[in-house]
Amino acid sequence: MYNSKIKGLGYFVPEHVVTNDELSKVMDTNDAWIQERTGIMERRHVSKGDGNTTTTMGVKAAKIAIERAGIDKDDIDFIVFATLSPDYYFPGPGVLVQRDLGIKTVGALDVRNQCSGFVYAISVADQYIKSGMYKNVLVIGSELHSHGLDMSTRGRGVSVIFGDGAGAAVLGREEDSTKGILSTHLHSEGQHAEELSLIAPGMGKRWVTDIIADNDPNDESYYPYMNGQFVFKNAVVRFSEVIMEGLAANGLQPSDIDMLIPHQANLRISQFIQKKFGLSDDQVYNNIMKYGNTTAASIPIALTEAWEQGKIKSGELVVLAAFGSGFTWGSVIIRW
Ligand code: UT7
Repeated sequence: MYNSKIKGLGYFVPEHVVTNDELSKVMDTNDAWIQERTGIMERRHVSKGDGNTTTTMGVKAAKIAIERAGIDKDDIDFIVFATLSPDYYFPGPGVLVQRDLGIKTVGALDVRNQCSGFVYAISVADQYIKSGMYKNVLVIGSELHSHGLDMSTRGRGVSVIFGDGAGAAVLGREEDSTKGILSTHLHSEGQHAEELSLIAPGMGKRWVTDIIADNDPNDESYYPYMNGQFVFKNAVVRFSEVIMEGLAANGLQPSDIDMLIPHQANLRISQFIQKKFGLSDDQVYNNIMKYGNTTAASIPIALTEAWEQGKIKSGELVVLAAFGSGFTWGSVIIRW
């Protein structure tokens, strides 16, 4: 019936900048290692008293996206919120956004797909709009990592990488079937679930009463774990596959891509994909240098920045792609 299109974009990052040198004061790391292995120069962390949570950052990004979409908050028919760092264990942040934005009692869905969260969330929103069920869907990706990282040397392989922030998009109807979101492709491979994971406080670990009784700050399962090299190797393969899958489904080639917005996992991964698809520096948008990896927020922040900088124009082919914990991965092909 309809295609969906991105009508408005917004992002928010906390003011507090944390440089690599600052991290080297609390753990055994250094600016050269972090830049060489990841491309990251600095990231944002929320600070005490700034009021930033996963939800409030998402709300700030959403307000900008709604305004730019030229709609009223009461025109939103559905909310999809992607995060791995919700304010509460339950309920998820979707309903908190409904409350904080003062939107009428529309449905609110929480997506738990980590780095692929925004791509999964866009896919869900796209289906609702295509089916005609909803007209405007608010999609948010937001993360507050800094409260949950092991900031000792033990956690350095993970903690230097992740940053806080949020991005949002309003999806609406596109009457022209050759424009808007042309396709989404999603995948998972749970066989590798534990290779990038945070095991506690999952109910599968042990009885809750035991967790409360011996809540041990030295218990590593309360911190994210990543088998970095294994994740890296899988990421480069899956990114390439799922971008090709999306292009092929639309009869397109890598040379048709005008702008690729990869999930900001590691600058080396983005550069590998860029080379593989023969894209120029102008055709791949990276901002991991400034924000680190903001998981579900990374694509909407990068997409918003690219759009704000005039790097995405009407009629261009924009590709979003993500890979991460699950493993999950996916792509979105958009004719802007
Ligand atoms: O967003 C979801 C998807 N995520 C990804 O795709 C991330 C994929 N993986 C990566 O980006 C990289 O694997 C990392 C950036 C996480 C790690 O880079 P690496 O080149 O794979 O390094 P490594 O884990 O093999 O570690 C190399 C060395 C080790 O020391 P030894 O054993 O060689 O003595 C680590 O202990 O670097 C050490 N190391 C550090 N040194 C300084 C690990 N973290 C740090 C650190 N500072 N922060």
